[in-house]
Amino acid sequence: MKFFVDTAEIDAIAELNDLGMVDGVTTNPSLILKSGRDILEVTKEICAMVDGPVSAEVVATDAETMLEEGKKLAGIAENIAVKVPLTWAGLKTCKALSEQGTMVNVTLCFSANQALLAAKAGATFISPFIGRLDDLNLDGMDLIQDIRTIYDNYGFSTEILAASIRSVNHMKDAALIGADVATAPPGVIKQMANHVLTDKGLDQFVQDAAKAGIKIL
Ligand code: E4P
Repeated sequence: MKFFVDTAEIDAIAELNDLGMVDGVTTNPSLILKSGRDILEVTKEICAMVDGPVSAEVVATDAETMLEEGKKLAGIAENIAVKVPLTWAGLKTCKALSEQGTMVNVTLCFSANQALLAAKAGATFISPFIGRLDDLNLDGMDLIQDIRTIYDNYGFSTEILAASIRSVNHMKDAALIGADVATAPPGVIKQMANHVLTDKGLDQFVQDAAKAGIKIL
């Protein structure tokens, strides 16, 4: 499973990128707001740092303006994936951009039927939002499973990009189901390294190393 980082914070992306943990980046208007940066500037910086796809989202809601915004975003760098919402206008924009050879990430997906439409419109990525479904007492992982089954039934090449990930269990479950990509906040990716038994075991080894007077350097 590829890891995308769901943030527009340059330092956080750089730290994970240096460890080889970053296969791509996703941003959205809320994450741009949080970063306090200009979308065009920060997106250009991220694209220069990361080899993989960097999603940058349009803000218009009509197809014509979305397409113009998408073309401008795509001009930032070759690794831009233009993010469009899963609306009828977004699907039209997806079709037009993908026909021009631009990667498209169709976002705000909450149903398997929406994902089916995105694949038929030529989406490079479909972004089902797990956490926001869980927030409503629904099961976001069921949606990932349904989309996996449908895409496999028909051999769609659109990649399932599990989004709105809030926990390490979301990461594990998305990987078990076979999501192609998971995009997660930097903190969630770092938490994947944690285990209480690792901490406990390390404490013991450190104590015993001191008792044994072990010196390696
Ligand atoms: C994905 O591309 C979105 O930016 C993101 O995962 C949304 O997550 P949220 O529901 O935590 O805002």
